[in-house]
Amino acid sequence: MKMMIINIFFILSLVSSISFASVQDFCVADPSGPQGPSGFSCKNPDQVTANDFAFSGLAKAGNTSNMIKAAVTTAFAPAFSGVNGLGISVVRLDLAAGGVVPLHIHRGASEVLIVIEGTIRGGFISSDNKVYLKTLQKGEVIVFPQGLLHFALNNGTGPALAFAALGSSNPGVQLVPSALFASDLPSELVEATTFLSREEIRRLKRVFGGSN
Ligand SMILES: *[C@@H]1O[C@H](CO)[C@@H](O)[C@H](O)[C@H]1NC(C)=O
Ligand SMILES: *[C@@H]1O[C@H](CO)[C@@H](O)[C@H](O)[C@H]1NC(C)=O
Repeated sequence: MKMMIINIFFILSLVSSISFASVQDFCVADPSGPQGPSGFSCKNPDQVTANDFAFSGLAKAGNTSNMIKAAVTTAFAPAFSGVNGLGISVVRLDLAAGGVVPLHIHRGASEVLIVIEGTIRGGFISSDNKVYLKTLQKGEVIVFPQGLLHFALNNGTGPALAFAALGSSNPGVQLVPSALFASDLPSELVEATTFLSREEIRRLKRVFGGSN
């Protein structure tokens, strides 16, 4: 009996530490208010409507006429204001033939990717540099653990479509090629910190629009 009570207290304390839900039902984002580590300020509940909890931006295919032949459409807070503070969000991934979402990380979340159409090759690299790769068909899923470098590419001959759920209302997306070659990190520092040749760095900065 004593053990059971201790267990119940343990579970209750876990639940209350997971979210604010013990004191309020939701915290729809008020983008005009300050943003803290757990998200945006809450919109006045009297002004919250069903529209705050729905998002139609993922209904339409993204434009894949670009260098990576891919489009990632995000439903993060505050664009999808209802997810604020709930520790969840969603993205749509359109990949034309040959399309790729380059190596990237999400600072704030693990990700579950669900293939809806086509064949997608997904993978991640763990902290000990082990590579985990999987080719996924329609209906199959893969999980990318939080903070690890991962990617997805179209492994088929036609278009591919996937949705992904992320364990944060605003997980962030940092693409490795963009961080290195679309930023103004001086080329000599890119060279010193990546061991790539200066020529290749200059070429990639031209492609990605970086400077310095
Ligand atoms: C897709 O993007 C390309 C390149 O930016 C643009 O030329 C084209 O008009 C866009 N297509 C649509 C349907 O928006
Ligand atoms: C798909 O992946 C396989 C390896 O699993 C590879 O041999 C093949 O070239 C890939 N096809 C495309 C179209 O990317």
